[in-house]
Parts: sequence; structure tokens; C-alpha cells
Amino acid sequence: CRVQQWDSEEPVPRAELLAGVAGTRGLLCLLSDRIDREVLDAAGPDLKVISTLSVGFDHLALDEIKKRGIRVGYTPDVLTDATAELSVALLLSACRRLPEAAEQVKSGGWTTWKPLWMCGYGLSDSTVGIIGLGRIGQAVARRLKPFGVRKFLYTGSGPKPESAAEFGAEFVPLTRLAEESDFVVVTCALTPATQGMCNKDFFGRMKKTSVFVNTSRGAVVNQEDLYDALANGQIAAAGLDVTTPEPLPVDHPLLSLKNCVILPHIGSATYATRSTMAVLAANNLLAGLRGEPMPHELKL
Ligand code: NDP
Ligand code: DGY
Repeated sequence: CRVQQWDSEEPVPRAELLAGVAGTRGLLCLLSDRIDREVLDAAGPDLKVISTLSVGFDHLALDEIKKRGIRVGYTPDVLTDATAELSVALLLSACRRLPEAAEQVKSGGWTTWKPLWMCGYGLSDSTVGIIGLGRIGQAVARRLKPFGVRKFLYTGSGPKPESAAEFGAEFVPLTRLAEESDFVVVTCALTPATQGMCNKDFFGRMKKTSVFVNTSRGAVVNQEDLYDALANGQIAAAGLDVTTPEPLPVDHPLLSLKNCVILPHIGSATYATRSTMAVLAANNLLAGLRGEPMPHELKL
């Protein structure tokens, strides 16, 4: 293969992408590259395969891609453990107020041991609601169960009895999940149906003591509504690994809240996972170029 590479960790500027993609047969992209009709037109009819270094594919215009007979490779499974681990870390950081407490040590706010100082909420005997009991959602539940979770609820496009059986998880409508969960973990894909799904109505139904965690995509959440819920004490805390936009501007209101822990989209960021993802994405691309079955092809 002749490879033309954008050799930087910074996203390729749109104009460079449009110019560079012309006449290519294969494209390896990141989730920060929006692959839409304009890019596909710029690539031209030779483009046969797109391989994304991600399991999420909301940055790809799938209808248009399918119409043009282009195959798509992605990276499921290999990042499930790392992302579930980070989801648990984020949940614990938010519910036990870890960044806030660590900051108190540095700033001199730690004066003595006080009975109610820096108290948060624990998982023991709790109800955990999972929005999207897919690969990552199940891996999160598997990790949370040993913390003494009493009940798992989940929601999605329909019940998944085989997946839910391991956790005795109950399929419920989104409204009931919001009302009954002590912890809500969002691990669904971003689709037209899930966009903005966690909104004013959703947060309004949550308990004042509940903690909200999102490691899926920022756009699943209405961030203005989340800000209001956190600022007004409608919910206790939130942990976000994904935001809209990314990066979140440093003066964004959510960053002014002590009860909101925000990470820079690092769910899959272990050296081993990123390396495996890279190899998988390259092999998807090569298989697609050869017209062979890909290790992981997205069914369009
Ligand atoms: P899966 O396809 O295994 O799971 C996606 C889940 O989304 C499915 O269980 C699906 O449920 C659910 N879903 C779809 N529609 C709805 C809906 N309307 N309401 C609720 N749930 C819904 O994908 P993965 O678990 O591998 O990954 C999930 C997402 O996590 C990715 O799409 C990506 O956006 C994000 N991600 C983020 C990372 C990070 O770094 N923070 C790392 C990796 C992934 P059903 O089967 O019932 O339709
Ligand atoms: C994905 O793969 O979709 C994540 O967001 C990054 O690993």
C-alpha cells in the first residue's frame, strides 16, 4: 500500500483531510474526524473501506457510506474492559468526591477529621441503572456487582434476558430507571433516539441523592439541563468522560461545579488497549482493501 499519513496527534484540519483523501481506496480515521458526504465526495468513487479507531461510529455518515457500497471496520470488544474500568473509576470519583477531597488536602481545607465532612454516597445496597446494557454496560455491571449493589435496572431498545441474567437486571422504561436508580451509568451508543435523552425531565425524576455517570457520548446528555440539576441540588453529583463539545471550553459552567467530575474522553486510554485498537484498525483496513472479511466489520 502507499500510505499517506497525517503524522500528528492533533486532528487533521478539514481542508487537509479533504485534499488528502482524494483518490484513496481506504481511509483510517479517528472519532474526531467527521466522515460525511463532503469527505466521501472528496474521496471519490475509489474509496472502498473506512476503518475507524473507535467502537463508536456516530462520526460516520452511515446512510451515505452504505449507499456508496463502502465497508466500515471498527474496534469493539478490545476496549470494553478499559472503558468499563474507567466508568467505575469515574463513578467512585463522583460519588465519593475524590477530586474535591484531594483538592482540600492541597489547599489547606483539611483542618481535622470531621464527622460529616466530605461525605458522599456508596454503592453498598444501592440500585444501579444502566442505559445501554451492551458490551461496556455489561462489563460495568460485572465490576460494580461485587461492591454490594442490591439491584440492577437497565434500559435499551428492548429486553436482553441473556445479557441481563448474569446481574439479575430488570428491563425498565427510562423514566423508571431515572426514578429508582441511586447511580445512573450511560453506556449506550449515540443515535437519533439517544441524542439529548438525559434531559430536564430525566434529571427531574432522579433522586436528590443520585449520581449520574456518562462514558458514552456527550450528546446523549443535555448539558444545560445537567448543569441546572447539579447546581440546584436536583441530583447529587455527576461524572462525565464525554462532553459537547470536546474539548470542553475551560470556562464552561459545568467546570465551575464541585459536584461534577469531568475527564477528557479517556475511557479506552490504556497503552495496551490503544495499541490493540490500532492494530485492529489497521487489520480492518487491510482486509477491506483486499476484499477479505474484516476482523471487525460494522454491519450496515
Ligand atoms: P454496544 O453496541 O455493545 O452497546 C450499545 C448499547 O446502546 C446497546 O446495548 C444498545 O441497546 C444501547 N442502545 C441503543 N439504543 C438505545 C436507546 N434508545 N436507549 C438505551 N440504550 C440504547 O456498544 P459498546 O458497549 O461497545 O459501546 C457503547 C458506546 O460507548 C459506543 O458507541 C461509544 O459511543 C462509547 N464508548 C466510549 C468510550 C470512551 O472513551 N468514553 C470508549 C468506548 C466506547 P440495545 O441492544 O437494546 O439496542
Ligand atoms: C470509542 O472507541 O468509541 C471511544 O470513544 C474511544 O475509544
